[in-house]
Amino acid sequence: MGRVPDINDINYILANSGKDDALILEMEEYARENNVPILDKISSKFLEQMILVSKPESILEIGTAIGYTSIKLAAHMDQKAYIDTVEVDERMYETANRFITMAKRNSKINVIFDDAIKYLSRTNKTYDMIFLDCDKEVYPEIFRLVIEKLNTGGVFIVDNLLWHGFTAAGEVPEEKMISTEAIREFNNLFLTTEKLKSEILPIGDGIGLGIKLA
Ligand SMILES: C[S@@+](CC[C@H](N)C(=O)[O-])C[C@H]1O[C@@H](n2cnc3c(N)ncnc32)[C@H](O)[C@@H]1O
Repeated sequence: MGRVPDINDINYILANSGKDDALILEMEEYARENNVPILDKISSKFLEQMILVSKPESILEIGTAIGYTSIKLAAHMDQKAYIDTVEVDERMYETANRFITMAKRNSKINVIFDDAIKYLSRTNKTYDMIFLDCDKEVYPEIFRLVIEKLNTGGVFIVDNLLWHGFTAAGEVPEEKMISTEAIREFNNLFLTTEKLKSEILPIGDGIGLGIKLA
């Protein structure tokens, strides 16, 4: 196997790539101060590039938090393209809407205040890209619902499939067991389904990339 990038490599990449605007930096600060988990910078660069490559007209994000990824992705989307993003926590929902207004992206980003499983069960909509990033315990159940909501040729991106190293670890702390088992079950579904061409990439905390087959 080739050399694995270390923290110096990551810092080099971040120091030499495009700078984020003031609102994005403010959101990162807010997330740090309030312990809100948001997508890491390298993974978010990967998602931004995927937008430019696949040009989705419709995106569903599952797990909005403060709207950080939605706002970043919206900047790279075609004029008519839009994002639906689902968030179950009312405080997060309100904070996301506040930041989305500050970013002037209200017409592009629609925050849905609902549980993702309920939303996926009731909606008839299908999407060109789905980004899954909510509670890990529900990943397997979401997998079964989400697959039908992805258009043929659509892109399914999933965060945390290496789950801070626990997914591949021989021993897992008791408090991480349920989430780790859920991720392992999800990964098995994700990598073996005939409906997707899927891979787990060692980007950030392990990014799943699946393309919906005909
Ligand atoms: C890791 S954060 C999302 C970060 C966001 N995708 C970003 O990168 O900016 C996970 C979010 O998912 C939300 N969440 C967890 N379970 C959910 C569910 N079943 N339905 C909808 N949202 C959920 C949490 O409240 C939390 O705000």
